[in-house]
Amino acid sequence: MNSNKRFNPNELAQYVSGGYETINGMLQSGAASVIWSLIELQDVLGVTGNVAEIGVFQGRTLLMLCHALNQGEKAFGFDVFGIPMGSNKEWPEKLDENLNRFGLGDDTVSVKTVDSSTLAPEDIVATFGGASIRFFSIDGDHSVDGVLHDLNLAKASLAEGGLIIADDLFNAWYPTVTEALYKFLWDDPGDLEPIAMISANGPLVTGAGKLIIGRSSFANKYKAGLKILNRDDLKHCDPFAGFADVPSFYFEDLPQKYPLDGRNLEILNEILAK
Ligand SMILES: C[S@@+](CC[C@H](N)C(=O)[O-])C[C@H]1O[C@@H](n2cnc3c(N)ncnc32)[C@H](O)[C@@H]1O
Repeated sequence: MNSNKRFNPNELAQYVSGGYETINGMLQSGAASVIWSLIELQDVLGVTGNVAEIGVFQGRTLLMLCHALNQGEKAFGFDVFGIPMGSNKEWPEKLDENLNRFGLGDDTVSVKTVDSSTLAPEDIVATFGGASIRFFSIDGDHSVDGVLHDLNLAKASLAEGGLIIADDLFNAWYPTVTEALYKFLWDDPGDLEPIAMISANGPLVTGAGKLIIGRSSFANKYKAGLKILNRDDLKHCDPFAGFADVPSFYFEDLPQKYPLDGRNLEILNEILAK
């Protein structure tokens, strides 16, 4: 066990198995299960760094990502909190309550009230102390231009081995998000590619599908890990936006995640050694 973690494995398991449902917001059990695996895989792959989210709301997803943090790593949240900006007082209050409840009332989490369209890549990277983000969740402005802008902020911010979690893939309420994801991956993905598709598994008000995006140099490693740990919920692998073999996770029942230990870890290490 990595004793440098801010939350221990039991606390992470508890958050995934119900803790997240004590927070109003959009994260479903299927996505939580896959992100749980990604957090464990980052530890095996030696990926470290901060976490960030645009569109924090009351912190349901940001708190999930905080479970990845090592001591000394930080979380950054951005939200416009109402129109006009800052007019919604309830959401940031609830967010503070939730952070305190999970022991994050110190300076680990920094939340800024801002319209992300006013942020520039170089400014946000400076805020993060460099390209240091291991998980960047995008769930703010859902317009094509808004999502593209936020994807480019995330692209500039990723640590080596860092991942983007793009919310609302294939959400019928927000077709513009899927349009933006295709456009980003077709036009100018740099060294990024889709790593996994996660289906929605619950009412739309509690969330939707997600697309995981990461560097090509890490894609096969993450894919192999997810295929081992979330194998019961792996539906098939499909081409997506011009990239081959993107695993798609679909949940008929409660998600099943296998532990990253024993034979599972051995198999992963054998694959990583090739
Ligand atoms: C669907 S909610 C996010 C849910 C959240 N990720 C969770 O885990 O529950 C969308 C959030 O994006 C914020 N938002 C919308 N447009 C934004 C913008 N341009 N900049 C920053 N935040 C924005 C909204 O205020 C809202 O809190």
